[in-house]
Amino acid sequence: MSVHYKGTDHMSDLISDDYRMLQVITRFGIKLGFGDQSIDEVCEACNVDTATFLVVVNYTSDPAHAHIKEMAEEVNLADMMRYLALSHQYFVEFRLPSIRRKLIEAINCSESNQIGLLTLKFYDEYAQEVAKHMEYENTHVHPFVQSLLSGIKPNDMTFEQLISEHSDNHNSIEKSIAELKNIIIKYSPNDNNAQLLNDVLMDIHVTEEDLLNHCRMEDSIFAECVRNLEREVRMRSTTNDTAPSPNEQTTDNQDRDELSEREKEVLVHLVKGMSNKEVANSMFISVHTVMTHRRNISRKLSIHSVSGLTIYAIVNGLVKIEDIKI
Ligand SMILES: [Fe+2]
Ligand SMILES: [Fe+2]
Repeated sequence: MSVHYKGTDHMSDLISDDYRMLQVITRFGIKLGFGDQSIDEVCEACNVDTATFLVVVNYTSDPAHAHIKEMAEEVNLADMMRYLALSHQYFVEFRLPSIRRKLIEAINCSESNQIGLLTLKFYDEYAQEVAKHMEYENTHVHPFVQSLLSGIKPNDMTFEQLISEHSDNHNSIEKSIAELKNIIIKYSPNDNNAQLLNDVLMDIHVTEEDLLNHCRMEDSIFAECVRNLEREVRMRSTTNDTAPSPNEQTTDNQDRDELSEREKEVLVHLVKGMSNKEVANSMFISVHTVMTHRRNISRKLSIHSVSGLTIYAIVNGLVKIEDIKI
């Protein structure tokens, strides 16, 4: 049965329950050795946005029951994109070369073994296909999203056009790794090292699941976030809505690190437990604007977790301790 993790859960329980979370924490830059600290506490110590971390964790834990629209509203898009980029680096620079090394060890790839040579060739083509796909995301999709995050409306292309072949690409990546598995299982000659071959097959199984999760997260939560942001940036550029940009300069005599009145208002709503959507509704602004305020608040205060922001709000008299649900 799947579990829905919360910020107050122990980080160690998350890893003990589901080994796949090891990959997730590494890609968020979190290292083992967190004792009995909660997810909130570990994220805060590692400067990780807890809401985005929980979305990735809960999606990975149970993608079939994920509420994509709600999750997309919680995500900090810049942080999710960083997570995806680090995943690309992991697959291309570490995981796929490691499987190749193990394949060469396990399979007789000498000239006399055509099946062995062909298996390696098939693998190399597959690894190239994955690397090319991820390179495209790094060099085209992510910069496009980065412009949107800076409030710049892309003129030449829409997100849909940019990723028009994306789902097909994902399907092809998924199919190729399934084929590779089948080739090894069905057609491996007897002169291979059985233990090593089992070991590499297990690695391929784990990688298949990991890649599947990665691609589906891009197709669902990430794409939903980008579409929402693109809609708002395009709308703003036609209606002249002036939501703050991520690097908005403060005005007049206001100190760069001092929160504006609007940001204080957002902060108070957040620490009282409201979701991004609830804050947006109560302040009559868009979810994107709330998220931009959140980014600016975290940047100015260098505090990224809700628990840290709550402490700031209490200490600075923005909320009373009795108004906080702990
Ligand atoms: Fe990707
Ligand atoms: Fe992808």
